[in-house]
Amino acid sequence: MKKTIAVLPGDGVGPEVVNEAIKAIRTVGEKFNHKFEFVHGLIGAAAIDKTGNPYPKETEKLCRSSDAILFGAIGDLKYDSDPTLKVRPEQGLLKMRKNLGLYANVRPINVFESLTDKSPLKKEIVEGVDFVVVRELIGGIYFGKRGRNKKGDQAFDTSAYSRKEIIRVAEFAFKLATRRNKKITVIDKANVLETSRLWRETVNELKIKDEKLKIDYMYVDNAAMQIIKNPKQFDVILTENMFGDILTDEASVLTGSIGMLPSASIGEKVILYEPIHGSYPKAAGKNTANPIGAILSAAMMLDYSFGLKEESRTIYESVKKTLKRGLGTKDIIDKNPLSTSELGNVIISFI
Ligand code: IPM
Ligand code: MN
Repeated sequence: MKKTIAVLPGDGVGPEVVNEAIKAIRTVGEKFNHKFEFVHGLIGAAAIDKTGNPYPKETEKLCRSSDAILFGAIGDLKYDSDPTLKVRPEQGLLKMRKNLGLYANVRPINVFESLTDKSPLKKEIVEGVDFVVVRELIGGIYFGKRGRNKKGDQAFDTSAYSRKEIIRVAEFAFKLATRRNKKITVIDKANVLETSRLWRETVNELKIKDEKLKIDYMYVDNAAMQIIKNPKQFDVILTENMFGDILTDEASVLTGSIGMLPSASIGEKVILYEPIHGSYPKAAGKNTANPIGAILSAAMMLDYSFGLKEESRTIYESVKKTLKRGLGTKDIIDKNPLSTSELGNVIISFI
């Protein structure tokens, strides 16, 4: 098989972790006889510095002409400290998601057995946790009308969802649940928000078409509690953009570190893969960030975009083996932690 992968390392620790993911994909390519070509592009603060634009036209072109996208992270302290700036790195990511129509963000929350004592939560609560959050990614408050009044002393952000937007992501979650334990929890705030009421109405109508799926609804405030109190009750969580953003950071605590979690953003055509962690600017260039989220994102790519199940599994098993030996970066290992590249090397040695 021959595939072209767009690589957008972005900011902070993005380049370091993406590098390890590339190593993993290359190694799998050698082992299974596939040819993967990597073409680099600019995004985020890195792109602003070079072009003035956080999502240059060439990057969009590269994404559209590639078979998959591997993305690192976005965000830079120099932009965080000044809220008045008009051009911001995050705009690059949001524009890319929107332009490429990446409406379903899939974030699997799996707890590796060897890391059950790394979570601040009790072992009994986190062991065996295995659920997937499907986060709607290109609607809601992230993309609604926002602004200020004339005087500038009042601001607003609006959340809007259409039936069509809800249906496409819900159908995706339904399909996913069918391949898993057939249970979907829709998380919303239907006791307050009209958008949430439309979500319930719409998902309920879809449900009628598939009798086997069990659908529950849960308010987001309760869900925030349930995720840490009894996370094993979840199989597939379906939720809107902002709730999904917040709840997946929370859920990452179950796994021991936010550095562990991969994601895929699915649209009509090309799929984007990225670790869910941010750019972690304080660690940038230090070779200490956890590359596993990025490496597992590569594993998702091989499966979802290229249908290479065994190859994908090989990466996953190599990560598992590495963790079982007690190896990891400093976010998950106290004694003798490995560097980013050392951990990557161990993982590819198992591939
Ligand atoms: C994420 C990130 C982004 C988001 C930021 C960087 C805009 O937090 O992918 O979860 O809020 O979606
Ligand atoms: Mn986030």
